[in-house]
Amino acid sequence: MRKKIVAGNWKMNTTIDEGLQLAREVNRLVDNDPGDVLVIVAPPFSHLSEIKKVLSVVALSAQNCASENRGAFTGEVSAEMIKSTGAEYVIIGHSERRTLFREEDEILLKKVKLALESDLIPIFCCGEKLSEREQGKHFITVQDQLASTLFMLEDKNFRQIIIAYEPVWAIGTGLNATPEQAQEMHEFIRRLIGQHFNTDISDAASILYGGSCKPSNAKELFDNPDVDGGLIGGASLNANDFFAIVKSI
Ligand code: PGA
Repeated sequence: MRKKIVAGNWKMNTTIDEGLQLAREVNRLVDNDPGDVLVIVAPPFSHLSEIKKVLSVVALSAQNCASENRGAFTGEVSAEMIKSTGAEYVIIGHSERRTLFREEDEILLKKVKLALESDLIPIFCCGEKLSEREQGKHFITVQDQLASTLFMLEDKNFRQIIIAYEPVWAIGTGLNATPEQAQEMHEFIRRLIGQHFNTDISDAASILYGGSCKPSNAKELFDNPDVDGGLIGGASLNANDFFAIVKSI
């Protein structure tokens, strides 16, 4: 059975005190009512080591890492540094990184490799823009994103990865993919993994949905056979909403 996962991407929100409060609350809710879902929070870099101290049943992720490990890269934070905070996961290739910070596939593959070398598990995001969906190019877009990144990895490395399908038009817009749209893309991604690697690997791969996932739509999204959980933005900033999403699996 593959892992069910719900991860909260806090983006550039919360001060350290606010973040600690939110993390404590999420940890308390999960601790009081644990299930078989892996719950992850991804606060800003500046909060990681402090937040690590208040988590016991919730895992910790960064939202990005550098494409180099050390050196003259002012303002960057490497995978090795993230690992040293106690974090275990790192989001790579979020559409905000791809568009606002112009991160291309080549850079993303470097980040994935460095994360794995530092013993961090990448949560790798893919997904099409609205124009690509409108032109019927959503499958080929996602296929290309995976072909030039994750499908360059060796089997044993690919097995570590968590994939998040996040249609860009659904992120922060309030407009989620329909359960049918999510399922058909997740099934497609799993089929590609099966073809490129093998079906043992594709059966074991956790593929999360992200994009305006909230308590009111989480269950219908998660009920699909190929949707193994969610990457949650806005709704992860409220502990009760986030936990309601965790409980929707
Ligand atoms: P959203 O963001 O849930 O606010 O749409 C999801 C994400 O960006 O990971």
